Amino acid sequence: MSTVGTEGFATLDGARSKSASTVSPKANSYIVYDELLRQRKAEASRSIIVQVQKENLCDDVLLYCSQFGEINKIFHYTSHIIEHSQKENKDLVFIEFKDEKHFEAALTASTHANHQYIIPACTPMLWFRHTKSSSIKKKLTSNKQIEIKKDSCKVLSKMEIKNKLAKVDSISEQILTLYDFTKLNDAGTRLRFFTAYQIERCFKSLFPNLVVVPFGSSVNTFGKQGCDLDLSLILDQNNTEKISSSLVYQTKYFSGQNKTHVKRLMETIADSMSTFLPGVSNVKKILEARVPIIKFDHLLCGVECDLSTTNMTAYYMSELLYIFGEMDWRVRPLVFTIRKWAESIGLTSKIPGPWISNFMLTMMVLFFLQQQHVLPSINSLKLSASQNDVRVADVHVDCTFLRDITKLPKTKNTDSLEKLLLDFFSYYSNFDFSAKAISLNMGKPVLKSENHPLYICNPLEVNLNVSRIVSIDSLHRLVLAFRDATWVLETKKERNHESKGLLSLFSKESIQKNWKESKKTAR
Ligand code: GTP
Ligand code: MG
Repeated sequence: MSTVGTEGFATLDGARSKSASTVSPKANSYIVYDELLRQRKAEASRSIIVQVQKENLCDDVLLYCSQFGEINKIFHYTSHIIEHSQKENKDLVFIEFKDEKHFEAALTASTHANHQYIIPACTPMLWFRHTKSSSIKKKLTSNKQIEIKKDSCKVLSKMEIKNKLAKVDSISEQILTLYDFTKLNDAGTRLRFFTAYQIERCFKSLFPNLVVVPFGSSVNTFGKQGCDLDLSLILDQNNTEKISSSLVYQTKYFSGQNKTHVKRLMETIADSMSTFLPGVSNVKKILEARVPIIKFDHLLCGVECDLSTTNMTAYYMSELLYIFGEMDWRVRPLVFTIRKWAESIGLTSKIPGPWISNFMLTMMVLFFLQQQHVLPSINSLKLSASQNDVRVADVHVDCTFLRDITKLPKTKNTDSLEKLLLDFFSYYSNFDFSAKAISLNMGKPVLKSENHPLYICNPLEVNLNVSRIVSIDSLHRLVLAFRDATWVLETKKERNHESKGLLSLFSKESIQKNWKESKKTAR
């Protein structure tokens, strides 16, 4: 058995022990999701980003900003988002001050330049220019020890990943290596929370109860470096009417159920962000979709975003995935590997369509791990829920389930990652997709209630199928790919070809070649 500690979302800076395969899991203090998001938002609220002309100016920025107060965190990153078909490379520094008053001091000391030609927004998104005062060498006090990590949000190329994996012997180790080198890191997470906070800040003076909540892979801990940022804008969170008040705000009429109203609201939000917010670019309004979204790039944070309104169900879905990821150290590395496999052989795509998505694949992995008794069913999480866990989203969706997983018994399953990977492919190679649905709530296959090719019950709205869009052709391709992968992993073992391990799984050509070879041998 390989019992390797893995770094939790809450302790993203902690490094995994390199003597991986024998050490026991790192004691990981579990943080409930709401608290985790609160902490991340608090960090974002006292952070600034500063664009520099050259990377070597980072130290000057540190020196200059140190005059405003103690710095908790500083890192350099580059943003490479394409604008007007041109690849822009920007060098930036992210700084989190220890205290809000230091953040305020930095902003108060900042200025606009070229007043005649700008929208004079005051945001914590700044650029650094050399003046006499910035070159004064101030004596550093508490910030003396801080080291600026360079290129903190680097996304490894396919070749770099391949080289890393080629250096590792066992498949279990390769799975962990892949996870370690491709998962969204602390810097990427901070920039995503910072982006969400800037949009919230932009509208806050008019709507004090407005929140912009990140969800999806950026926060559910299944995200990789460079993943998109899913955001939900909620106009009026936790606002309850004060029955005793005699002064009532004058307001405009609006109904969240009225599609025209929602469309108009989103159009205005999109236009305001595009006009006022530095960094926001390539704004596209996709308002006719079932869930209307605004797509945009944040060029200063290097993030691609999808913003929807009032989507609390998605928030709780992310919480559920986060909880599953926290339950066992093997969950995330396995999900990462299977998502990478699907991407490498063209099963998933960035473009939505009648094929399987990363989200659906994640559901399939979690369901498989329930079959192995690594994870519990959602119904058992509901049964263990306390009064504090009661949540209802978007008026009618029951999102009540146990949040404090430290109360759950640990799994007795000690299978290695390699075994789980092979068993995953083998399980779905033989799954009766024609009759059975995947139900994470029951934790076992159930009879399909409708005849969609692939049926994965939505864990929060059990009568809905999250994979209703998947076509029969895509399902066939998926099942064939499961069988190919099972075959590749099994024959590797028999022939003792361990040199490449996972890599053979990620190569389309090699799978096709192996498949043809197996057919020849069978004849
Ligand atoms: P990547 O963006 O591919 O890294 O993964 P993701 O989990 O963020 O997926 P995506 O951006 O497509 O969706 C964001 C979130 O929306 C998911 O994590 C889910 O919470 C939710 N979501 C996505 N697809 C569906 C779906 O088909 N049904 C439901 N109910 N929720 C979905
Ligand atoms: Mg996403």
